[in-house]
Amino acid sequence: MDVWKAAAQRARTHGDVLVLAAGQPSTPAPVPVLRATEAAIASELLGYTETFGILPLREVIAEHHTATYGYSVDPDEVVVTTGSSGAFSLLFLAAFDPGDTVVVARPGYPAYRNTLTALGCRVVELDCGAETRFQPTVAMLDALPEPPAGLVVASPANPTGTMIAPAELAALARWCDAHGTLLISDEIYHGITYDSGHTGTSSAWETSRESVVIGSVSKYFSMTGWRLGWMLAPSGLRPALQRLASNLTVCPPAISQYAALYAFGAEAKAELDGHVRRYAVNRQLLLDGLPKLGITELAPADGAFYAYANIGHLTDDARTWCADVLANTGVALAPGIDFDTVHGNRTVRFSFAGATADIEEALVRLGHYLAV
Ligand SMILES: Cc1ncc(COP(=O)(O)O)c(C=O)c1O
Repeated sequence: MDVWKAAAQRARTHGDVLVLAAGQPSTPAPVPVLRATEAAIASELLGYTETFGILPLREVIAEHHTATYGYSVDPDEVVVTTGSSGAFSLLFLAAFDPGDTVVVARPGYPAYRNTLTALGCRVVELDCGAETRFQPTVAMLDALPEPPAGLVVASPANPTGTMIAPAELAALARWCDAHGTLLISDEIYHGITYDSGHTGTSSAWETSRESVVIGSVSKYFSMTGWRLGWMLAPSGLRPALQRLASNLTVCPPAISQYAALYAFGAEAKAELDGHVRRYAVNRQLLLDGLPKLGITELAPADGAFYAYANIGHLTDDARTWCADVLANTGVALAPGIDFDTVHGNRTVRFSFAGATADIEEALVRLGHYLAV
C-alpha cells in the first residue's frame, strides 16, 4: 500500500508510472456481471440479505465447486463473506482462541499473520524455501513441538505463485485431521494456473470436509473491489460463524451478491479465461526477460500473477531498492519484506496482472536502470 501511495504521487508529478506492484487484475468485472448489476439496481430492493448470503449465490458457488473438483457441496455449507479477507477474520475469530498457535508459510500473504496476531493468536511461520516450492510440507509439521490449532496454506500462493502438488495437499489435510489441526486452504487464485509441468489444481475438500476452503471473486473473476468471498465450512463451525457474522457485518454487500450470480456462467468464463491467457503471455515475458537483466533466481510461477525474484545481488534493503526503482524508472514493484520479514529484504514481487505493453516497457526501463 505504501508503494501504491508513492506510485500515485509519482503518477501526479511524472505521469509515467507502470504498476507491477498491485495484486489485482487490471480489468473490470466480466460483462454478464456488469449487466446483472444494472438489472439488480432496477429490480431488487438491495437491502440486507441472509447473513451467509442469498441462496441462489450459495447454490451457484456449490455447483462451481462440484463442476471444478467433483465433490458435492450443499448450499448450506457455503458461507458468503465480504471478500476472502472477511472470511479470514470471521473464521479466525470463530475457530481460534487467544494464545492458540496457527502455522503459516513464510513467505506468505501478510494479512494472515497480521490478523491472527491482532486476535491474540501465536503465529508460527514455517521458513519455506525453493526446495519445497516455498510451500509447507508434512515433514515440517512433523517437526513442530506440538500440533498447532490451525494451518493456513495458499495454492497458488501470494507472493510466489507456487502451488502445492495435489498429493501433498491431500497429505497435509490428512495430517491436520489426524492431529486436530484446522486446515484453512486459501484457494482464491484457483483458475489462474499455467502449464508449469507441476500443477494440477486440487481443493482441500477433496480430502477433508473438516478443513475450510476459502474462495473469492477477486482474482480469477476480476472483481476485487466488489468485496465478495466465500468459504466452505464444516458444520461444527457454522453456528459460531453465523452468530459472529450477523453481529460483525450483518451480510456481505447485496449488490455484489446479485451481480456475482453471473460470474460463474460460460459467457463470463470465456472472458475471464482470456485474461488468464494474457497473464500467461506476461508471465513468459518476465520469465524470459528478467534473467537477461541478471535476475535469474525466480520462484516457479505455477499460478496467480506474480513472479517472486531473489535480488540479493542488488540489495539487502528491498524497500529502499523499490523506492529507488520507482523514482528512477516509474516502475512500481512490491518489496519482498512485506511477505517475508526474515529474508524479504533480498526479494521482490513483480505482478503481471497488467497490460502486456506495460510489462514490455517495464523490462526496458529496468534494463536501463540495472545497466547504470
Ligand atoms: C493469498 C491471498 N489471500 C487473500 C487475499 C484477499 O483477497 P480478497 O479479500 O480480495 O478476497 C489476497 C489478496 O491479495 C491474497 O493474495
